[in-house]
Amino acid sequence: MAVIENSKVTVVGAGSVGSSVAYAALIRGSARHVALYDIATEKVEAEVLDLAHGTQFTGTSSITGGSDISVAEGSHVVVITAGAKQNPGQTRIELAGVNAGIMRKMMPQLLSVAPNAVYVIVTNPCDVLTVLSQQETGLPPERIFASGTVLDTSRLRWKLAERAGVSTSSVHAYIVGEHGDTEFPLWSAATIGTVPILEWVTPAGDRMTVEELDQIAIDVRDAAYKVIQGKGATNYAIGLSSARIIEAILGDEHAVMPVSPVLTDFHGLSGVALSVPSIVSARGAFPIAETRFSPNERELFHRSADALTEVANSLR
Ligand code: LAC
Repeated sequence: MAVIENSKVTVVGAGSVGSSVAYAALIRGSARHVALYDIATEKVEAEVLDLAHGTQFTGTSSITGGSDISVAEGSHVVVITAGAKQNPGQTRIELAGVNAGIMRKMMPQLLSVAPNAVYVIVTNPCDVLTVLSQQETGLPPERIFASGTVLDTSRLRWKLAERAGVSTSSVHAYIVGEHGDTEFPLWSAATIGTVPILEWVTPAGDRMTVEELDQIAIDVRDAAYKVIQGKGATNYAIGLSSARIIEAILGDEHAVMPVSPVLTDFHGLSGVALSVPSIVSARGAFPIAETRFSPNERELFHRSADALTEVANSLR
């Protein structure tokens, strides 16, 4: 049950990702009211109808939507998924130009009807679009952040849980940095229960090796490419990840999640959005400054920042 009364989330974009965010939010009861907005009238109305037809089975949440911006009025959370999607073989960064244009046009419209909302950017490249939108709107950095590596972290925990023979909730490990090709796991802080990851004895009786963990990190980094190659898009897991972020905000949970707000003097970095373990509540996302990095992880983190800063600068 959400802590904010009559909580409302608007999902912007009724494509495969946006519809899946709405679907996951309805099924999980993430908000009292879910609204879906898209400029494509027929498409969004059809998705809303299809979702509404299932409300007998989704508890007390309701769904509305359409192609008028007033759909987003009074939202506590706005999740943005609109824009071009990755094609097979394409990187997220390659979408920067076209999706930056869409964000620039859309953000002022959304802010005019939902001035107090917390904004979650899912559209890729989500970190770069967060910097751009935060700077152009002047929103406090905690109130606009990317879904970032919440999904990648779930992918990592799924893999490690299978290998370790424990539930995903017993794996304490994070992917940080760009939601994309320069992301990496914070292995130095990864544990199963309280046991450091390299010391855990698996059901097969062995321990995971550094080489094996390196391969897992590569598989997680490239996971979306594999899914997109096979089915043209990723949608279910990003839908669930986004629903989980919505719950943390609306429930004022103070949950620790690797989302991506614009950083201010975080391990020496400012003005760039990267995923770091952050406290997510009704006020937004606050990076945890005490997060530890090994010297190698710190270098990878700065490399991720450099790559994204270059892309962000090219959009100015
Ligand atoms: C993915 C998309 C959401 O990683 O970027 O599945």
